[in-house]
Amino acid sequence: MELKRLELNNHRNYAHLDLEPGPGVNVFVGANGQGKTNLLEAVAMLALSSSPRARRDQELLGPVTPAARIHAEVESAGRGLEVTITLQGEGERVRRVIEVDGVRRRGFDLPGHFRVTLFWPDDLGLVKAGPEQRRRFLNQMLVQVEPGYARNLAALRRVLEQRNSLLKRIAAGEEAPGVLEAWNAELVAYGSDIAGARARAVEELRPYAAESHAEIAAGERLEIAYIGPPENFGDAVEKSLGDDLRRGSTTIGPHHDDLLIRLDGRDARSYASQGQQRTAVVSLKLAEAALVTRRAGERPVLLLDDVLSELDAERRAALLRRVAGEGQVIITSAEMGPFPADLITGARVWSVNSGRIEACG
Ligand SMILES: Nc1ncnc2c1ncn2[C@@H]1O[C@H](COP(=O)(O)OP(=O)(O)OP(=O)(O)O)[C@@H](O)[C@H]1O
Ligand SMILES: [Mg+2]
Repeated sequence: MELKRLELNNHRNYAHLDLEPGPGVNVFVGANGQGKTNLLEAVAMLALSSSPRARRDQELLGPVTPAARIHAEVESAGRGLEVTITLQGEGERVRRVIEVDGVRRRGFDLPGHFRVTLFWPDDLGLVKAGPEQRRRFLNQMLVQVEPGYARNLAALRRVLEQRNSLLKRIAAGEEAPGVLEAWNAELVAYGSDIAGARARAVEELRPYAAESHAEIAAGERLEIAYIGPPENFGDAVEKSLGDDLRRGSTTIGPHHDDLLIRLDGRDARSYASQGQQRTAVVSLKLAEAALVTRRAGERPVLLLDDVLSELDAERRAALLRRVAGEGQVIITSAEMGPFPADLITGARVWSVNSGRIEACG
């Protein structure tokens, strides 16, 4: 997988950008607030269809016009592909139009065309924050490799909305509990598909994550485990009716899943240091890239935003050695300092300055 050309119009602080990154390592260097993260966000959107960080598409529109455009020429399995996302501001609303080779696609049909593995500082929440971030990690990976996963997720979301609203109506005496039957069946059907995909993926990630982590962190032991819905999912849903009615929400299902992350036998969230947590997250991301490579038959583009901070010299060097052989890599940093000279000789280096990017040297 390779990003050949990226054009941005009015995306965040980029009025206009036309970039042709190299096939290997690309280092983007710039001071704080110049557009490094914004660049990676745009590339990630081409893979995921929406921004992994913006709460509202409105945030993405730059100051120039009420519209923004992200356009890329990519190469996948030896074939050229064009992906375009256009955002059109219409008052408070933003209309998002997605096209692959000029053909309109719905949001859940885009992932799988262009694949990326993204690490950015928000991902530290994978260890530090609640389970939602860990589910998002699994989802972002699986929509890119598991056919039907994105569609199932959207369907599950709809089922939960309907079921939760019915729970409230039943509790208020406006509906009979029988109306839940069809929704319970859908919850179990979509939920089992999603949970099955997640369980298989975590099994597959486990050795890759352990191996990456041991290499970067000289022997530290990273373990992960998936915590999904109960085995007898259907029965558990039936039995939870009382709880569900009291809370007005669905207590059993993959929307409560979690991923356990342990370092040297202890819970990483409570025991690991800042640098150890960062290493664990990076290792999970490298494991994700390995899984995507194995499933899709080609490497995703690795997007690494400010990945080196907080890591000591040895971990930095080990990480950079590892990613240097990983196909196309887009890595950002506030300074050139942390990059060893031998990496730089094989890399393209770019400077990022107020939404402009120029090749260095
Ligand atoms: N919709 C927008 N329109 C214009 N500018 C925006 C928009 N959204 C964000 N920005 C600005 O873009 C600038 C660059 O942000 P970005 O997060 O890419 O910086 P960065 O280079 O990653 O910095 P850091 O090293 O601090 O992480 C910021 O100053 C931000 O205020
Ligand atoms: Mg940034």
